[in-house]
Amino acid sequence: MSNNLLKGKRGIVFGALNEMSIAWKVAERAVEEGATITLTNTPVACRMGSVVALGEKLNAEIIPADATSIEDLETVFTRSQEILGGKIDFVLHSIGMSPNVRKKRTYDDLDYNLLSSTLDISAISFHKMIQVAKKMDAITEGGSIIALTYVASERTFYGYNDMADAKSLLESIARSFGYIYGREKGVRINTISQSPTMTTAGSGIKGFDGLMDFSDKMSPLGNASAEECADYCLVMFSDFTRKVTMQNLFHDGGFSSMGMSLRAMNQYNKSFDEFRDENGKLIYG
Ligand SMILES: NC(=O)c1ccc[n+]([C@@H]2O[C@H](COP(=O)([O-])OP(=O)(O)OC[C@H]3O[C@@H](n4cnc5c(N)ncnc54)[C@H](O)[C@@H]3O)[C@@H](O)[C@H]2O)c1
Repeated sequence: MSNNLLKGKRGIVFGALNEMSIAWKVAERAVEEGATITLTNTPVACRMGSVVALGEKLNAEIIPADATSIEDLETVFTRSQEILGGKIDFVLHSIGMSPNVRKKRTYDDLDYNLLSSTLDISAISFHKMIQVAKKMDAITEGGSIIALTYVASERTFYGYNDMADAKSLLESIARSFGYIYGREKGVRINTISQSPTMTTAGSGIKGFDGLMDFSDKMSPLGNASAEECADYCLVMFSDFTRKVTMQNLFHDGGFSSMGMSLRAMNQYNKSFDEFRDENGKLIYG
């Protein structure tokens, strides 16, 4: 269903890899809502059939770029303005990768070169793309920039590893640059903190199935899906949120405000069943 929320707007979507990607859903919904967009991802990802098919379906040009390369980012903003015919109204940063997680290095045995890559790909790339856009004056007055994050930036989650540090930095960049870009050009910068979602990046996290289930049981509204996340991104790109900036916005069914839910408590208690006596009393020790 379209409400023409983004009618006439031009956008750049970073990070659509396959149908499960959150960026994929954002790209589809943005076009449905009347936007014209370009898609960008790493050169390897752009050669994949799925990304090519998405570009064809949405009539969106694909611009290969490593988001850690200033030169590549300059190309993305130059080409996007040429293709779309003017300055950019919205940008989605939907990029995350930890080589430490990939190589199964635990948080107390990190490889520091790999940590640098994690931070560069997953957080500093956000600074780089905003700095490039600002220097080129590529974003319209009142434009909107969003990056996707996770609550492990501020609370500890087993297995999230050095991505937690990257997400803290990412959210900090949204605040620091949001101040400067807002003051000078009226550009909004926010992060959306999304529920665990079954995607390529998500499933790389240790114990991800258990995390998704726990999070779903703890959240009064349940986990937010990738489609629902896309809807929230669109609202943040639209003119209905013109005064929202420098925020970390939770889109997680209420998870981040919960301590303990009835369902989670019941589930937890079940694990003690084998330790109860015939009267249902817990046997300790
Ligand atoms: N899946 C989840 O549970 C979840 C929850 C909260 C936040 N997020 C965040 O959402 C964002 C999108 O992830 P996703 O879950 O859709 O997974 P995804 O694997 O579909 O997307 C990650 C994207 O990052 C791209 N990427 C990696 N290195 C890059 C580089 N150097 N330059 C440009 N692009 C690069 C990948 O090609 C891929 O398209 C990430 O920031 C992720 O941390 C995901």
